[in-house]
Amino acid sequence: MPRVCAVIFDAYGTLLDVHTAMSRHAARLGPTWPAISADWRAKQIEYTWVRSLAGPQHHRDFWHLTDEALAWTAARHGVTDAALLTDVLQNYRRLDAFADAVPVLTRLRDGGIHRAILSNGNPGMLADAVRAAGIEPLLDAVLSVESAGVFKPDPRVYRLATERFAVPADEMAFVSSNAWDAFGAHAFGFQVFWINRSSAPGEYDLATTATELRDLAALPDALAL
Ligand code: LAC
Repeated sequence: MPRVCAVIFDAYGTLLDVHTAMSRHAARLGPTWPAISADWRAKQIEYTWVRSLAGPQHHRDFWHLTDEALAWTAARHGVTDAALLTDVLQNYRRLDAFADAVPVLTRLRDGGIHRAILSNGNPGMLADAVRAAGIEPLLDAVLSVESAGVFKPDPRVYRLATERFAVPADEMAFVSSNAWDAFGAHAFGFQVFWINRSSAPGEYDLATTATELRDLAALPDALAL
């Protein structure tokens, strides 16, 4: 494999812990909050796929879909406290970074490797998120699918990264905890690292097409830094 000169990260679920928006309100949501949060995430991602398949006139940005998915999930779980839902949604703009995010971004920077986010998020929510998580100074670029007008795993999205760095895909690493995103990134031609924090079963042939890691801390060694 060619030596990697840029590492592209997925944002939500990979660098940022999406479940912190609800875990911070666990007492108000009740003990089933992890299931509510998981349903919110699944519905949010479903909406991205369905709208992308339906065609460009059906595109809405990720903030809109995150809000819609929260409304559906609240109805599904009987959460009726409007103030609570507003708090949860606003917390999605300032999620915690995973503990290994800052150390790995710092190590890549010190190793002379470019670092960027490529995310479904719209520019405004991504700007808020990287600032709140303290990772903004460690990134060369924060790339949003809004420049392509379609969501992952459409190849036009992954092309935003190769265009930004003017580097062939096989000289770039793509890092995601989302197996379907890892699949799309491999299909585009990146060297792919699948972060499987929860030891989920393998899928999308990732066992042969990607390097599976337990967490981000394992990335520098996997890149032979
Ligand atoms: C993102 C979603 C897929 O950040 O996690 O693009």
